[in-house]
Amino acid sequence: MRSVGAEDTGSSLEDMGCGIMKVAVSGKGGVGKTTLTAAMALIVARQGKKVLAVDADPDANLASALGIPESKQNDIITIARQKSLIEERTGAKLKEYGQMFKLNPEVSDIADRFAYQHNGVSLLMLGAVEGGGTGCACPENTLLRALVQDIVLNRNEVLLLDMEAGIEHLGRATARGVDCLVVVVEPGLRSVDSVRRIARMAGEIGIRDIRLVMNRVRSVDDERYIANELPGYSIIGAIPYSEKLIAADRDGVSVLDAIDDDLLRRFEDIAARLEQVRPA
Ligand SMILES: Nc1ncnc2c1ncn2[C@@H]1O[C@H](COP(=O)(O)OP(=O)(O)OP(=O)(O)O)[C@@H](O)[C@H]1O
Ligand SMILES: [Mg+2]
Repeated sequence: MRSVGAEDTGSSLEDMGCGIMKVAVSGKGGVGKTTLTAAMALIVARQGKKVLAVDADPDANLASALGIPESKQNDIITIARQKSLIEERTGAKLKEYGQMFKLNPEVSDIADRFAYQHNGVSLLMLGAVEGGGTGCACPENTLLRALVQDIVLNRNEVLLLDMEAGIEHLGRATARGVDCLVVVVEPGLRSVDSVRRIARMAGEIGIRDIRLVMNRVRSVDDERYIANELPGYSIIGAIPYSEKLIAADRDGVSVLDAIDDDLLRRFEDIAARLEQVRPA
């Protein structure tokens, strides 16, 4: 399958990298965010680089895409569930209302202390805040937001953030540190509309660099459809529809272990493009 890439959308290949790699991955529900994040994390780790993969989706499943066996997943610490940590760092008593708490809790040690190590990838699971959306100003969310901000702004390793469908909890201060937002898109109107919505939100919080990865494409026509619907966007790769990826999810196998060489090369190309330093 020939790829309808950026050549067809007007940007040049040299202009495709995101600089150092601090990448947030977003897109419509089910579009392939976790699959892509896991593949990128494992590829970068295989190159011997330090990589921190953050599961920022309350409905977390990055661990299984990385190939962490189900029997081990209980060992992974979910930050939002660490009540005593949250209380200690924010000074709040959880479940008590109307109290004061610190808005800038100390968080710089948390990633190193709580990340789970697997195949060279450090996985940090943020988890869901009970009873409150990502927007609520509760101590749990305050800690999570401070943590994401600290990770994005202060850490030196490759960072991959698997976001939920929206990017609300990136916030302005954090967004400044993200080199690029990768939006996964599949051939379909709803997915394409999501890209536009996400791009608008990204613009509002100051993310300028948005790259698209096409997923579940079955033909050049699928790729053309996306390129035509989203002109002017930089498309950095296309992942074909693959039964092997479905089987990987079903069998709880790492994304990379399940795929053939052609698919691996596609993911590697995307990783390479993300890592390219953008010319000044
Ligand atoms: N190219 C592909 N071909 C076929 N199936 C795919 C492909 N990419 C992903 N999938 C499958 O689609 C399902 C959803 O993928 P994934 O979990 O990566 O999406 P997501 O965007 O992270 O979803 P969510 O919004 O629920 O977090 C999984 O079963 C995955 O294996
Ligand atoms: Mg996901």
